[in-house]
Amino acid sequence: MMRSKEWEKIWDKRSVDFDGKDLRVIDGFDTLSCDEWERAVYFFCDKLDIDDSDKILEIGCGCGAFLSTIKEKYNDVSLCGFDISERAVEIANREVNGDFLVIDACEDEWDLNNKFDIIFSFSVFHYFNDLISTQRVMEKSLKLLSRRGKFLIGDIPDKKHETHDRKIRIKQKRDRVGNTDHLYYDKGFFIDFAEKNNMKIEIIDHVKYMDGCFPNMSFRYSVILRSDINE
Ligand SMILES: C[S@@+](CC[C@H](N)C(=O)[O-])C[C@H]1O[C@@H](n2cnc3c(N)ncnc32)[C@H](O)[C@@H]1O
Repeated sequence: MMRSKEWEKIWDKRSVDFDGKDLRVIDGFDTLSCDEWERAVYFFCDKLDIDDSDKILEIGCGCGAFLSTIKEKYNDVSLCGFDISERAVEIANREVNGDFLVIDACEDEWDLNNKFDIIFSFSVFHYFNDLISTQRVMEKSLKLLSRRGKFLIGDIPDKKHETHDRKIRIKQKRDRVGNTDHLYYDKGFFIDFAEKNNMKIEIIDHVKYMDGCFPNMSFRYSVILRSDINE
């Protein structure tokens, strides 16, 4: 079975265990304390310079942990999200003030008739099958981005650390049966994409810039693409 389908089953199953309390835990950030999680989310909000009037879309929103944390600080933003997991979307629609849809980012049409000021995808791209799928997801995202919009791809496993990171995941029994491993990305992949699309790119190494936010995610980085390069 393809990697993304394997992970769909896992995330669907995880959402069944929702205890009505903490979206952070159900969305997979249980190794972070509430404080660490908030610090990480607001670190990115500052980077994105979020404004209360922004329209925000998340690709792979899960149950809405990231989006609901944004909403706690920026009350008037409008939120939209989609996820491959039906159960996660059910929870997001119940728990978070926004519009949430079941969409497989790689396989389905995105039926969204809107432009967004901020589009982001946090801790999701490593579940995709291959770089071709990812490239398509990024191209579709740009079509929905407003003229001065910002696009964050967060928490990307760095190809440079693949061998070491895989060893750790196997030791911790986190890579289970089948294809439940991660897709790792060379930073050059995002740099090329930015160049081709005439966008400004900022790469944030978690280990360097986010000391303490992600104690066990130091092999990851995040990317912010800005479309206002000439303004
Ligand atoms: C670690 S969780 C992150 C949830 C959310 N982004 C957050 O930060 O709160 C990863 C999510 O990606 C979703 N996902 C994985 N592959 C996907 C795909 N092809 N299309 C849409 N969502 C996907 C999973 O179902 C899961 O909910």
